[in-house]
Amino acid sequence: MADWIAIARIEECPPGASIERVAGNRMVALANVEGTLHALDGLCPHQGGPLGTGRLCGTILTCPWHGWQFDVTTGRHQISPTIRQPIHEVRVRDGLVEVRILPDGGPATDAAAATAGGRENP
Ligand code: FES
Repeated sequence: MADWIAIARIEECPPGASIERVAGNRMVALANVEGTLHALDGLCPHQGGPLGTGRLCGTILTCPWHGWQFDVTTGRHQISPTIRQPIHEVRVRDGLVEVRILPDGGPATDAAAATAGGRENP
């Protein structure tokens, strides 16, 4: 099982924001949807754009390079159902946001999310 890697303090990614971080040798896009954190692979599958620096609107993160859009809760591309950005497990410990990078991109469910409101997920 992969290790948890701290990538940010909670306050670095407030509700409505997305940020770019490095976890091991992977880029991670961290998004805060109304207090729930979601982490997905940070390299856009189109041409490698920095997804974490894109604009978050609701659950939709838009790549800043050419506008591909992904649902951060599932990793699914908004137009092509065959494209799914890998998502990663995320949790909060002692004010730090941690992710666990799974080889297959993790589960495509909300189970991979963590609340950022001070309560810590198991
Ligand atoms: S690199 Fe992301 S849309 Fe082109």
